[in-house]
Amino acid sequence: MIRTRREVLGGHTLYRADCVRVLKRLPSESVDVVVTSPPYNLGLAYRSYKDRLTEDDYLTWMEGVCREIARVMRDDASFFLNIAGSSAQPWLPFELMVRLRQIFTLQNHISWVKSIAVGDVTFGHFKPVNSSRYINRNHEHVFHLTKNGDVMLDRLRAGVPFTDKTNIARRQHRADRRCRGDTWFIPYETVRSRAGKFSHPGTFPVALPERCLALHGVHAESVLLDPFMGTGTSLVAAEKSGIRGIGIEADTTYVRVARERLRAVIAERAG
Ligand SMILES: C[S@@+](CC[C@H](N)C(=O)[O-])C[C@H]1O[C@@H](n2cnc3c(N)ncnc32)[C@H](O)[C@@H]1O
Repeated sequence: MIRTRREVLGGHTLYRADCVRVLKRLPSESVDVVVTSPPYNLGLAYRSYKDRLTEDDYLTWMEGVCREIARVMRDDASFFLNIAGSSAQPWLPFELMVRLRQIFTLQNHISWVKSIAVGDVTFGHFKPVNSSRYINRNHEHVFHLTKNGDVMLDRLRAGVPFTDKTNIARRQHRADRRCRGDTWFIPYETVRSRAGKFSHPGTFPVALPERCLALHGVHAESVLLDPFMGTGTSLVAAEKSGIRGIGIEADTTYVRVARERLRAVIAERAG
């Protein structure tokens, strides 16, 4: 069993620990936004976590984690759960959602598009699938789960300007801003080595949790939780959004990376 280690950095709390142990100790209804990407059970080469449980063990474990997440969420909190399947396990994200149906309402389902071809021009990056049966997987799911499906969102903060400006007056909009919809194109930055991705096999770009925070609509008192913090991307987004974050990660090396990333962003913001 991993011994829990807790540290405070600026307004953020980082735990090197098993997330269920820490979640059980967090007060009920104390978190506003959860943004997380758990292990997908696809056999990724994490430093210490073995990403290959039986499907049933994985689903039962994740259900237990999510019950604790629900307990610590305020009634008007949002839980953005990023997960993907694979050609070998295409049903897994949906099997998990069926389990979570007992706990949450699926308020929105966002497709995080990592790469897209518009006409003949391709934007973004993806891991190619070498197969004549399967096409490349260019998107992942972001399930927006809430307690009752009635959480008010800041659609315009996460929105986009109108392309056709005549829409503003014609449709009586108050600003040049509209909801961007449920397809989010957020490419990875171009990197040339594993170090460019913090030597971690499954990070998401900072812009993804930033957009989740904008959509939920956070203020100075808001608290973000990421129970599978990895290299601290969600906490970096929390810092950039001016809110406090709680991150939990089982692997000491990834916690160190998270600490270093967070320190750099805190220093940058302090000027
Ligand atoms: C998909 S990664 C998260 C990556 C993160 N979003 C980022 O951008 O760096 C999942 C993480 O969960 C961690 N993990 C696995 N089991 C855990 C547990 N029981 N408690 C806490 N963290 C765990 C793994 O070490 C891994 O870093």
